[in-house]
Amino acid sequence: MERDIILEVRDLSKSFGGIKAVDSLSLNLKKGELLGIIGPNGSGKSTLINIITGFLKPDKGKVLYKGTDITGLSPYKIANIGLVRSFQFIRPFYKIPVYKNVVISLCSDRVKRLKGGSFGRRDEVAIDLLEELGFERDSRILYKETSEIPHGYLRRVELARCIALNPDLLILDEILSGMSKPEVASIIPVIKRLNDQGLTIIMVEHRIKELFQIAHRVIVLNFGRKIADSTPEEVMQDQTVRSAYIGKAKINFRR
Ligand SMILES: Nc1ncnc2c1ncn2[C@@H]1O[C@H](COP(=O)(O)OP(=O)(O)OP(=O)(O)O)[C@@H](O)[C@H]1O
Ligand SMILES: [Mg+2]
Repeated sequence: MERDIILEVRDLSKSFGGIKAVDSLSLNLKKGELLGIIGPNGSGKSTLINIITGFLKPDKGKVLYKGTDITGLSPYKIANIGLVRSFQFIRPFYKIPVYKNVVISLCSDRVKRLKGGSFGRRDEVAIDLLEELGFERDSRILYKETSEIPHGYLRRVELARCIALNPDLLILDEILSGMSKPEVASIIPVIKRLNDQGLTIIMVEHRIKELFQIAHRVIVLNFGRKIADSTPEEVMQDQTVRSAYIGKAKINFRR
C-alpha cells in the first residue's frame, strides 16, 4: 500500500434484508485530502461510515486504516487510534452544560495518552475550542443545559466534540444539516483551516454547494454503489450523477 494512503476500503458490502445498502464499494483516501461523499437519500453513505468506524460489521470486504486492517474493531478502539466521526443523528449528553460535552472528549483515553496523564484545565481548553467554532466565550449558551439550545448550535458542539479528540482522520456525517446559512458560512472556513493544517477529512453532505467549495475530490453513491469519483468540477458535469438526482431532493449543483 502507498505510504500516503490513510484509509483504504476494499470491496465492502452490507445488506439489510433484501436491501443492498453498500454494494461492493472500494475507495482510497490520501493523507491530507478533503473528500466529499454525496448521494441521494438512502444511497448508503451513513452505512459506509458506520462500517468504517466500527458501528456496523460488513457482510464482505475490508477497511484498512494507516495500513492496518481495522474491520470489525469496536468504535472505541477505532476512535482511540484517531479515526473520529460525527453522527448524522447527534446524541449529546443533554443533561449537562453545553461545554461539558467537549470536556468529556478531553477526558478520553486518546487525549490523555497524547497530552500526557495530567491534562489539566480541561474546561478552559473546551471553551477555547468552542470559541474557535463561533461561540462567544462568555455567552450564557455555553453554560446552559444542553437540552435547551437550538439544533444548529448542537451541530457545532458535535464538531467540537470530534476535534477535541485530536483526530488523524475526521469523518463528518452531515455536519452542516440543520445549520442556518450564516452558521454554515462561518463553519466552512473552520473545516477548511483544519484541513489546511493537515487533518484528513471526509464530509458526507447534502449541502453540495458549500461542500464543493472546499472538497478536493467527490465520491457519488447511488444504491450503495460508487457512480463517480472525481473533482467537484467533473462531478458537476457528470450525466450519470445528474440523472441519479433527478426527481430527488432539490440538489443545487450551481456554485
Ligand atoms: N439499521 C438498518 N436496518 C435496516 N435498513 C437500514 C438500516 N440502516 C440503513 N438501512 C437502509 O439502508 C439504505 C442506506 O441507508 P443509509 O442510511 O446508509 O443512507 P444515506 O445515504 O446515509 O441516506 P441519508 O442521505 O438519508 O442519510 C437505506 O435503504 C436504509 O433504509
Ligand atoms: Mg445518512
